[in-house]
This record gives sequence, C-alpha cells and structure tokens, in this order.
Amino acid sequence: MKILIIGSGGREYAIALKLKAGSQPVELFAAPGSDALAELGTCLPFQVLDVPGIAAWCAEHRPDLALVGPEAPLVAGLADALRREGIAVFGHDAATARLEGSKDFAKSFMFRHGIPAAESETFSEREPAEAAIRAWPHGFPIVLKADGLAAGKGVVLASSKAEAQATLRAFMAGQFGDASRTVVLEQPLIGMELSLHVLADVDGDHAAFAVLPPCQDHKRIFDGDKGPNTGGMGAFGPLPFLREQDLTRLTRDLVEPTIRGLRQDGLTARGVLFLGVMWTPRGPKLLEYNVRFGDPETQVLMELLDEDLAPLLLEVAQGRLDRPAIALRDGCAIAVVLAAEGYPETPKRDVPITIAEPAGATVVHAGTRRGADGVWRTSGGRVLNLVATAPDLAQARERIEAAIARVQWPGMQVRHDIGLRALNHARAGRTVTDQFV
Ligand code: AMP
Ligand code: GLY
Repeated sequence: MKILIIGSGGREYAIALKLKAGSQPVELFAAPGSDALAELGTCLPFQVLDVPGIAAWCAEHRPDLALVGPEAPLVAGLADALRREGIAVFGHDAATARLEGSKDFAKSFMFRHGIPAAESETFSEREPAEAAIRAWPHGFPIVLKADGLAAGKGVVLASSKAEAQATLRAFMAGQFGDASRTVVLEQPLIGMELSLHVLADVDGDHAAFAVLPPCQDHKRIFDGDKGPNTGGMGAFGPLPFLREQDLTRLTRDLVEPTIRGLRQDGLTARGVLFLGVMWTPRGPKLLEYNVRFGDPETQVLMELLDEDLAPLLLEVAQGRLDRPAIALRDGCAIAVVLAAEGYPETPKRDVPITIAEPAGATVVHAGTRRGADGVWRTSGGRVLNLVATAPDLAQARERIEAAIARVQWPGMQVRHDIGLRALNHARAGRTVTDQFV
C-alpha cells in the first residue's frame, strides 16, 4: 500500500512507525518529511502548504491514502484538492477544518448544537472589546483567543484587566496577522484538562465515530506545570481515574452532539477530531476543537492502538467506518518530549545528540537532522520523544525514566513528572470530579 504523509514532526514520525509496523507492506512518502522520515520512506520536496505541488504529485503517483498531519494545510483546503484528484484522504475538508481555523466559528458551532462550553463573545472592533474587558463579569484569568491559526500561541490567559487590554491591543494590531484581528473573549474554566481524540466519518446520512483513549498533555516547560507554555512536553493515556461512566458522559455530552451538529450543518468529517476538554465541577466542557491529531498525544495513541493503522485510516478516508470499537492494548503509555536548550523561545540547533542503544523505549524523531557525519543533531524545539508502555502508569513512568537516562545532549530539557499528578490522584482514590491537586 502506498501512503503519503503530509508533515514532518514527531506526530508524523510516530504515525509512520505505526504504519510500517502493520501486517501489510507499506510504501511510505512524506512531504516534506525529515531526515528521520527519510529512513522510513521517501521524502518529497513539498512544504505542507504547497497545495498545487502535493496535488500534482498525487495525481501522478496515485497513493492509496494521503494523511494530512498539521492543521494549516487542512484549513487551506489540501484535503479538498487531493479528493478532487480522486485520492482517499485522512483529513477534513476546509469547511470542517474551520472548527480549528476559526475560534469564532467553533464557538458558534458549540452554541448552536448545545455543546457545553465556556461563555464567550467575539469582537472585531477594539472599542466594544475594551469595554467588555472593563466590565468583565467572569473572574480571572480573562481568556483571549485569536480567531485564526496562530501556531499554538493564540490563547492568552490574562491575570489582570491591564494585561487583557494589552493583549487585546497586540492581537488586534496584527500580532498574528489577520488571524488575531478578530478576538474571542472567554470565561475561564477551571478543572482537569484532557485530550479526547475521535475518529470521525460523517457524510450525509452516514455518521460514524470511534473514540480513542483519553490522554493528558503537559503544556508547561518545567516540572510542576511551571514556566512558559509549549506545544506539549509529554502526554500519557488512558487516565487511570477515568471510569467507564465518565467516558460514556464525554461521548454523550461532547462527541455525539458534535457528530450530530456536523450532519445538521451539512458538514463532512473524514479524519480525527481532537477535543480539548476541561472537566469542571459542573461536568465536562469543550475548550476547543482541533481537526488533527495532537502532538505528543499521537505518540501515546499509536502505542496503545492494537490493530493495524493503515486499514483503520483507510476506513475513515473512504467513508466506511462502521464499528463499535477499536482494539487497544491493555496498560498505559507515556510519551515524553526531549526539548532543545532555549525551547520554547529560541531552541538551540545543531547540537549533537547521544542515544545509547537500546534506548529502552520507542524513539520518535520530532526535530532532528542528520549531519554528513551520520550524527543526529537538534533541529527544532521538540527534538525527540520517548514512548513507553507498561501495565500501569507507575510502571510506565519507571520505564520512561530509565529511557530518559539513555539520551543526552548539552542543554536537553525534559520533564520528569509526566503522569505524576494523575497517578497521585488515582492512588488517593479520587475521580475526575474531585479537585485535581
Ligand atoms: P489552544 O492554544 O487553543 O490549544 O489553548 C491553549 C490552552 O489554553 C488550552 O489547552 C487550555 O489549557 C487553555 N484554555 C483555553 N481556553 C480556556 C478557558 N476557557 N479556560 C481556561 N483555560 C483555557
Ligand atoms: N498537544 C496539544 C496539541 O497538539 O495541540
């Protein structure tokens, strides 16, 4: 089977590893890929937003499946263009990708379909927005969201009105170009955050979905959730304290109305929906939609998936998803991110990496390149991921620690507390409705 992956990071590498581990041979292509992906397949000289280039390649080479990793090309209509060439695509079309591409669109979708979410208001003019901040009734932090895609930097939790006004001015002045000229002001939600991935296949009367195990990401750079936000420093899943009834509630309150809403609005879905959820004292609320797999959540999910990935993706891409469940491994998986010195502001590049083999965990390349001397070097913020599975979260944490000790480079940053709070929470006999301390 011939498969094209669009993207180049850890998410795409983890997907590529899982595809290659399947029972049927897979011929892999990646656009643009990376030095690491080049070891699993052929890299093509197209950036992810080169819609005509990728479409022309597909028209000529006819892959059996194309998978779009990041959100920007989905929002730009890459999946639509490839489907016009008759290619089976795992990835939503542009109309559905607006669920991630426009916060305002997502919020009105949630509101229209009765999906529990934070209260919010959208502004394109400065004065009414400033007045709303002056009269802010919801407490702190004030949540400001750039309407459009802002490379993960478009959400600010302002701890004072002054900070909120300054952020508003910067956003509306074009800090993220047109993406931030429209701003959503949102009520803060407090609770336990989790990442819920759903394979969604919706087209006309056909509406099928399959829920993947909930994961939890760790966004701050330092242990104990301190320091600046990152793209994610580590994730694990499933959550040990989440009961069957909690999963049922997530499905009933958030997933089912989403699928119904897509149908009612005449939208299609042909990929994954990643729901950012806050489980508040008043139940689960939807923070946001992403129309792609999370990174590093994908690294966890690929490890937990106990069936071949290619046929599953193809079922979604061809509109044939129709089954109650997906086969999963028992136990728990953890992915830690090994990040470069200076990440998230200015990651230091070209630093040689030492990996003692065997690493004791799956090594996922995220931001590396290989020099002419054959040595792997840092080439991005999030450089490598280590992924381990074990019968439970405590043992997975031990395995990950042993694996971290086998990789090093000067300035490497890593968190040692991935899953720790959840583990303590579970050990204390608490559930998702108890305060997460
Ligand atoms: P995003 O960049 O859209 O992924 O959002 C970044 C993060 O901001 C989320 O993962 C949450 O941790 C946080 N966040 C977003 N909306 C809210 C909210 N209404 N209340 C509290 N935290 C939020
Ligand atoms: N790990 C969070 C994200 O991919 O958005």
